[in-house]
Amino acid sequence: MSSDSLSPEAAILVRPSGPLRGTVKVGGAKNSVLKLMAASLLAPGRFTIRNVPAIADVAWMGELLEHMGVSVNRVGDVLTVEVPDQLTPEAPYELVERMRASIVVLGPLLARFGRAKVSVPGGDDFGHRPIDMHLQALEELGATFSTSHGYIEGRAENLVGTRVLLEFPSVGATENLLMAAVLAQGTTVIDNAAREPEIADLADFLNAMGAKISGAGRSVMTVEGVTELHAVEHTVIPDRIEAATYLAAVGVAGGEITIAGARADHMSMLLRKVGEMGMEVNPVVDGLEVKVDQRLRSVDVSTLPYPGVATDYKPLFVAMLSVADGVGIVTENIFAGRFRYADELVRMGADIRVEGHHAVVRGMAALSGAPVRAPDIRAGAALVIAGLAAEGETLIAEAHHIARGYQDLVGNLTALGADVSYA
Ligand code: UD1
Repeated sequence: MSSDSLSPEAAILVRPSGPLRGTVKVGGAKNSVLKLMAASLLAPGRFTIRNVPAIADVAWMGELLEHMGVSVNRVGDVLTVEVPDQLTPEAPYELVERMRASIVVLGPLLARFGRAKVSVPGGDDFGHRPIDMHLQALEELGATFSTSHGYIEGRAENLVGTRVLLEFPSVGATENLLMAAVLAQGTTVIDNAAREPEIADLADFLNAMGAKISGAGRSVMTVEGVTELHAVEHTVIPDRIEAATYLAAVGVAGGEITIAGARADHMSMLLRKVGEMGMEVNPVVDGLEVKVDQRLRSVDVSTLPYPGVATDYKPLFVAMLSVADGVGIVTENIFAGRFRYADELVRMGADIRVEGHHAVVRGMAALSGAPVRAPDIRAGAALVIAGLAAEGETLIAEAHHIARGYQDLVGNLTALGADVSYA
């Protein structure tokens, strides 16, 4: 499977745009499909995963599985994952290093093969991201770990279910634990589990495989271990962060658009917030209709685990607040270091003061286009959105980061009438 990434030289050119009109379709959730691909390691056979976005992260997870001996093929938005009876349970440095989410292979590999060797993920633009909770949770089921030469080696002769209380509702730790618990002996109770819609999608996938999970999407999940699982077909839930990106686009540029495929029930807190800012959002069959005919009003935003405002939405809020009427305070409660893109917005004339995990954003009537750099997926998208409301040209370098999470951000915004192109 080839990588769907752009070259590191790719840049996106944005000119002032709006009002936006038309319909845009949201793809499958990146943060779900990566975990479903990892979950397929739990059983031999042919998995069919539908609604899979053609993004670099999916290609990389495919490469990681192929490295282990799995075959991965894409036709359109359908991914076929063929898992053999035996494979090499190893995730090498070169692959883990470029995508931290690779760590979620640890749970399924230990559960099915009793051993796993995974490169220790490094830091990234989110700041320091430890995996202590992943390891501790798996240890509570009976796994043991040693670390040497940059690799974690896990062993688990016999995983046994127990009650595991997570210190924080970590998405990744919940997923790793869940994927180990499905094949453990007896019952595992996950207390303080993450409740994100992607966790519920993973649980649906695992239950279809023959797992016995109840309580997905709630804080306490119960997993009754089974002895074997089987391959399945599954359709990935829509990407709520991609949907939020189009909301932000119409938020800064004005107009009236339909976001097809977006699920309002996965985005309740976000919709409440953008409603307070003056956006008119109406759920319709299989999507959202969004209308903005005035300058947005500023609000305060605080990121929290689901159902709170997702940290991945935050750069989009900062972009919207940069041109909204008034002052908004944005508080990051999930990833301490995640405000680096604010400096890029400041280069575009935004008035943002970052203090610790707070950013005070004073809205300007307009921004001023400038050359900037995409630091990560969502922050990169937020710079594109900001460019829609900036006078002159905004050139976003390192746009390959954006391609990690968006199949066609440029094409979709262009279809809505925005002046966005690759440069
Ligand atoms: C996932 C998402 C990411 C999103 C995040 C929070 C994927 C691929 N990524 O990341 O887009 O922003 O959820 O919604 O799904 N922590 C520890 N120890 C651990 C694990 C986590 O201290 O062992 C901390 C992290 O540093 C962070 C917080 O817990 O401060 C939340 O992280 P977590 O929910 O685990 O995020 P990810 O699963 O990495």
